[in-house]
Amino acid sequence: MRVEEVVGDFVALKRKGPRYLGLCPFHNEKTPSFNVSPNLGIFKCFGCGKAGDSITFLQEHEHLSYVEAIRWLAKRYQIELPEEEQTPEQALEQSERESLAVAQQWAMNWSIEQLWNTDEGKRIGLSYFHERGFTDATIKAFQLGYVPEQGNAFAIAAQANGFNPEILEKAGWIKRREDGTAWDFFAGRVTFPVFGLSGQPIAFGARTLKSDKKLPKYFNSPESVLYVKSRSLYGIYHAKKSIVEQQLCYLVEGYTDVISLHQAGITNVVASSGTSLTEDQVRLIKRYAPTVCILYDGDAAGMKASLRGIDLVLKEGLNVKVVTFPEGEDPDSFAKSHSSSEVNDHLTRSAQDFLVFKAGLLTQDVGDDPLKKAAAIHDIVESIALVPDQVLRSLYIQQCARLLTVNEQALISEMNKVLRRQYRKQVGGEQPVPEEVIPEAIAPPQPVIEDLGTTPQEANMLRMLVAYGHKRVMVPLESEDGGEAEEEEASLAELMFELLALDDIMFDDPLFRAIYLDYRHTSNMGEAVDTARYVQHEQEEWRQLAIGMLTEKHTLSPNWKERHKIHVKHESDQLYDALQEAVDILKERRVDVMVRDRQEQLKTADDESMMILLAEIKALNEVKWKLAKRTGRVVVG
Ligand code: UTP
Ligand code: MN
Repeated sequence: MRVEEVVGDFVALKRKGPRYLGLCPFHNEKTPSFNVSPNLGIFKCFGCGKAGDSITFLQEHEHLSYVEAIRWLAKRYQIELPEEEQTPEQALEQSERESLAVAQQWAMNWSIEQLWNTDEGKRIGLSYFHERGFTDATIKAFQLGYVPEQGNAFAIAAQANGFNPEILEKAGWIKRREDGTAWDFFAGRVTFPVFGLSGQPIAFGARTLKSDKKLPKYFNSPESVLYVKSRSLYGIYHAKKSIVEQQLCYLVEGYTDVISLHQAGITNVVASSGTSLTEDQVRLIKRYAPTVCILYDGDAAGMKASLRGIDLVLKEGLNVKVVTFPEGEDPDSFAKSHSSSEVNDHLTRSAQDFLVFKAGLLTQDVGDDPLKKAAAIHDIVESIALVPDQVLRSLYIQQCARLLTVNEQALISEMNKVLRRQYRKQVGGEQPVPEEVIPEAIAPPQPVIEDLGTTPQEANMLRMLVAYGHKRVMVPLESEDGGEAEEEEASLAELMFELLALDDIMFDDPLFRAIYLDYRHTSNMGEAVDTARYVQHEQEEWRQLAIGMLTEKHTLSPNWKERHKIHVKHESDQLYDALQEAVDILKERRVDVMVRDRQEQLKTADDESMMILLAEIKALNEVKWKLAKRTGRVVVG
């Protein structure tokens, strides 16, 4: 068994040379630091430190016991294990799940057959899809089907095929009358299979083709041991690869929105099928991407009603964006009446940050009413307080203060109240609560402290990001067999995010960190970021910093290849090296600071802690030596 296959069943992995990289499923992160090494047969997250082999992965991720993990692997690789004793309930559930899976697969094939190869199917079902603007390729890709009007065509065919009526009923395909005769629940409807993560049909939505308003437009399969509605998302199987690639997941209302957007070339899209998102669904999305973009149709009342539902998404630490459509349009109709590039443009251009969007919506009907204003402030602050990342929270406070024309400090105190209440709820009792500190980025300037720490190195890193982040760079890939190295193209920013995440390096300086996170966040959203964003930034302080950095007399830092007399062909070669060097130097300095800190502690240490400190200093110095060798710098002392 291969560790990348086992892990790959749960985490979207991208190949990077000899290893695979993905978003860690064990902690909340936006830049991948979860590594899988096929050679060693292990995974390791440089963010949270979780590591292990295939079995530990299954134990931790799927919450399995050791034995269960082995059994899972045996099943995955079709290895016969000696028969385990199941409890009778387990055996029953297992066999019911398997029977349902077989029935749904068979039913799907049958409905596809009806659609394409019967007169009625072609005349009614297929022509309906064509009228909706679905192409044959789309209809096939989503395995859409049709059930004849006759009323029991399916029941007869399925039972003739040996399917147990009880299973067919649990699968949602038939209903039974008192006398035991069966009728087709989906008769005269077109069918939309809902796929599980590995592409097997687990449920169906069936749309009526009649315009009779009294009929429910859709019938959906009931929940079963195979289909738990709150845990599935329509379209996830078709979308997951593209969600990972784009690092963004669009969320729409229903089947037809997903399909129409796909046809317009937007493939990173899923639907919650009419209901508001559940925690499980949000976590599912989070496995693949750090950002959700919600596509709202143009109905303002509906939008307001759904605002609260988004809080759940914020709480899980996902970035939330919003795109609205012109009055009366939904993603489906918009995709139909516009070209692919227009759809794409609309999605990228009109995407707004959710909290900013919400603040705007709330201020609309505040007017001069102070009570309404207070309510709006309270409402928005409740949402902001849910964002787990403190830096992001403070950025939101800033932006919303401007939108609501209130004092930032007023928002912060309001938020502190909310945070305190949340904290008490979690902890219980009357413990003192950590105050939300005002990050220095928005606080009055702090007195300068003697020790600069790694600020100059951080400044250099940020300067590279702002100046060259958008530049494309060729990256040498180590090939697996150690043969010819390949190259891959990426932006300097992407590389920086990856390199820093790999060693869990974050900017200490709050202003630098805010800009870095803004850059990473924006570019993860798929937006192009360049120097202009910061040079022309609306925040005075950001602008000043960016301009200062760019106008400083500064050449690319001394080049490693040059020093080693290696011929440099392209400027992009140089950028990649400069980045690596900058990262190494920052690491080196960080280690330095750590050494100094331990040396300081030594002065007052007792015997036992002295031993520990000395051992730490020794280890740190070794790391420093290795880094120094790479950067070609001389280590003194
Ligand atoms: P719509 O009413 O827009 O469905 O509902 P539609 O098939 O696109 O119909 P038209 O052509 O615009 O009139 C949007 C989504 O809400 C869910 C479905 O997922 C649907 O795609 N829905 C709607 C249901 O689950 N049940 C219903 O009865 C109605
Ligand atoms: Mn619709």
